Amino acid sequence: MEDVTDTVFRRIVKSCGAPDVFFTEFMSTDGYMSPGKDRVARRIEYTEEERPLVAQIWGNKPEKYYQTAQELVKLGFDGIDINMGCPVHKIVKKGCCSALADNPTLAGEIIQACKEGAKDIPVSVKTRLGYRTKKTEEWSKFLLEQDIAVLTMHGRTQKEMSKVPADWSEIKKVVDIRNEMGIETLIIGNGDVKSLEEVHEKHTTTGVDGVMIGRGIFTDPYVFNPDKSIMNLTIEERLDLLLRHTRLFNEIWGDVKNFALLKKFFKIYVSDFEGAVELRVELMKCDSLAQVEEVVANYAQ
Ligand SMILES: Cc1cc2nc3c(=O)[nH]c(=O)nc-3n(C[C@H](O)[C@H](O)[C@H](O)COP(=O)(O)O)c2cc1C
Repeated sequence: MEDVTDTVFRRIVKSCGAPDVFFTEFMSTDGYMSPGKDRVARRIEYTEEERPLVAQIWGNKPEKYYQTAQELVKLGFDGIDINMGCPVHKIVKKGCCSALADNPTLAGEIIQACKEGAKDIPVSVKTRLGYRTKKTEEWSKFLLEQDIAVLTMHGRTQKEMSKVPADWSEIKKVVDIRNEMGIETLIIGNGDVKSLEEVHEKHTTTGVDGVMIGRGIFTDPYVFNPDKSIMNLTIEERLDLLLRHTRLFNEIWGDVKNFALLKKFFKIYVSDFEGAVELRVELMKCDSLAQVEEVVANYAQ
């Protein structure tokens, strides 16, 4: 997730309980293949502890996918995921991401170019049920015919953004189509899942091979841990996690990223205890690690 699942947060999540696979933030293939590459490449920085790690990329030019995929192989990624799901207006108006559901010819060229560049590492696609309207059968069948390793289906169209509940009955259709085709492509379902219990329920009711959790991580960074939840932590342990996250952000991004990016995470750690709201108000005023440390120290007194 953009500005969320960077190397810093992935390491924090890993320390709470690792998922089976991590994905990077999405990265533009145009941006990566431009003179601004170094800045764009912050999205794919990683450490060994974040494996297995899949780099997610987007764009609308097959040749840029080919070149980017070659670089990602050299960088040691475990897989490459093509984003055909982002619904954001400024992106889809260029024909990228979820708009590709209405342009299968280009989508197919992109997948083939990416696979050629990726050589032996797996290429997957993450998408939605359709662009303006649901066309689950037609679109997923087309994607499955491209011989991809994994198809992640988010159970909404671009038009629906996040405004309606994810439609898991449509995701089940994708599983059924895959089964009828008799192919090996794994199906991952995505949308509104916030716990491991729900992951198992979706697996049982739809037959998906896996479930992707996005925003659930904001409710509980321990979401992938079967034995622990943030609700079981003492206030001190929660504040320790907040400090660990802030210190790691400062160490990795201190000079290059805006400190304000960190503020969206504070609610994860500072919620559901007496004084949490007041403490959060103080934390939101902070612009540096030193200030966060001071606010936390004052609270602990
Ligand atoms: C802040 C934010 C950033 C996101 N960035 C990405 C992204 O870079 N790539 C991607 O495939 N999906 C991205 N998504 C979509 C999520 O991966 C996921 O498909 C969506 O939130 C629905 O799943 P969920 O209910 O588990 O969150 C983003 C979502 C949010 C809220």
